[in-house]
Amino acid sequence: MRGLRALCFFFVVSLFLLAQNEVNGDSPYRFYTWIITYGDIYPLGVKQQGILINGQFPGPNIDCITNDNLIISVYNYLNEPFLISWNGLQHRGKSWQDGVYGTNCPIPPRKNFTYLLQAKDQIGSFFYFPSLAFQKAAGGFGGIKIYSRPRIPVPFPPPAGDHTVLAGDWFKRGHRGLKWILDGGHNLPFPDGLLINGRGWNGYTFAVDQGKTYRFRVSNVGISTSINFRIQGHTMKLVEVEGSHTLQNTYSSLDVHLGQSLSVLVIADQPPKDYYVVVSSRFTSPVLTTTAILHYRNSYTGVSGPPPGGPTIDIGSSLSQARSIRWNLTASGPRPNPQGSYHYGMIKTSRTIVLANSAPYINGKQRYAVNSVSFIPADTPLKLADYFKIGGVFNLGSIPDHPSYGNGYLATSVMGADFRAFVEIVFQNWEDSVQSWHIDGYSFFVVGMDGGQWTPASRSRYNLRDTVARCTTQVYPKSWTAIYMALDNVGMWNIRSENWARQYLGQQFYLRVYSPANSWRDELPIPKNALLCGRASGHHTRLF
Ligand SMILES: *[C@@H]1O[C@H](CO)[C@@H](O)[C@H](O)[C@H]1NC(C)=O
Ligand SMILES: *[C@@H]1O[C@H](CO)[C@@H](O)[C@H](O)[C@H]1NC(C)=O
Repeated sequence: MRGLRALCFFFVVSLFLLAQNEVNGDSPYRFYTWIITYGDIYPLGVKQQGILINGQFPGPNIDCITNDNLIISVYNYLNEPFLISWNGLQHRGKSWQDGVYGTNCPIPPRKNFTYLLQAKDQIGSFFYFPSLAFQKAAGGFGGIKIYSRPRIPVPFPPPAGDHTVLAGDWFKRGHRGLKWILDGGHNLPFPDGLLINGRGWNGYTFAVDQGKTYRFRVSNVGISTSINFRIQGHTMKLVEVEGSHTLQNTYSSLDVHLGQSLSVLVIADQPPKDYYVVVSSRFTSPVLTTTAILHYRNSYTGVSGPPPGGPTIDIGSSLSQARSIRWNLTASGPRPNPQGSYHYGMIKTSRTIVLANSAPYINGKQRYAVNSVSFIPADTPLKLADYFKIGGVFNLGSIPDHPSYGNGYLATSVMGADFRAFVEIVFQNWEDSVQSWHIDGYSFFVVGMDGGQWTPASRSRYNLRDTVARCTTQVYPKSWTAIYMALDNVGMWNIRSENWARQYLGQQFYLRVYSPANSWRDELPIPKNALLCGRASGHHTRLF
């Protein structure tokens, strides 16, 4: 009997190691220790309390290579709970590491937590951010670059430098003040300005050598507005969007919607002087603008004149630019085979989900909803409730697959979905503002976007050949955006508005992608170091 037990034990341990091995492979480990504190920052000239990582605002960049393991120990020295989430990292089979309310218990003040991440089968440009409360408005974000493995071809020569550009709108009011406004049932005020890498007007300098080519990875880390990015006197060649290598079209300016990331190549081919790097708000009145400096190292002339203007409220040009962004079918992505060898347009969809955003008043307070449901957190992270089979935390099907057009209501909304299904999701926007939607754990194909109401006939205009796969898409006012997505990642995944007030006030839900096989090939067991809270306290994360 004892022998059998020992054998079983041995078997289970081997399985466990196998499962670990399957995820980690022989890929290198990168270790990070991050100390989270409050500190004074002056991004718009007035003193504010910022969230610093190792004393830095923005936080340190993560530079890694496809499949690298990222072991990130986070020490929370704020006087409030804290979590970091990873916009674009897919955490294959490990929604345990996603760092949002629904998957992880908050790291309490004075405690630490170690994320066990892997850049599994991914390349590209992404960012991380604090996911709880309204902390994102205080900083705590940083860039993530995932480089291709050495032997996998990249469709452009290595650039002379690789600059991260974290841009977005900013408020002088602290994150608690903003949260207080939202908690009171009111809308946010108009932002006070824009930042580039945590700095205001001409506060940040990108140095370049004349004649060389540089990669700029631009992410919109803002709270409420789309931005336009451009560089005075220079054009930009788009090469990558959230992990997809694109056709290398040339642009004089590019729109980056909330939560989106893209990479451009810029050749420093102009006379040696300094040039403006410009970010302005899109679809707002007034238009906010800020600048950084592109400094040629052989320049003795500072920036001069007004920064170049860009598109402001016009939507048509943004839509046509979005449609011009295509997959390079012959270029490799994270794997050696060409991106185009995955024929997403030939796969039959098994389900259509239509998601309509709305801004209802509920109990006299401004809320935001999707299919009339305004998300409210429960007392226990949904992933933990699911794992430990704790009833009464959420109900599957608590958000409908289609708009209900009824009054808005509050619920802890979770939609069920089958592992390996191939779904069509339509984001229908009847409001007159641009929306931005993000799906954790996935990359999806943006097959179409257009004005008006989506109908099945809209499918005839889908791009089923060479649209990009990405994780965040915009939806224009009174318009729709359709995506295809292969549900190849088991877990509990957040689908949210990247407009942070909307997200905070309920415009989000969770997609529970479920496999009855219950296999460690599809989903790893709960990590031993998982924090437990709410009704999951007292359960055990250890297998033995
Ligand atoms: C990190 O937290 C764990 C418990 O969650 C604790 O055992 C450990 O001592 C902490 N590490 C440090 C350096 O505080
Ligand atoms: C697509 O990628 C290939 C590399 O496979 C590259 O040679 C080609 O220039 C790219 N095409 C465009 C239009 O960007």
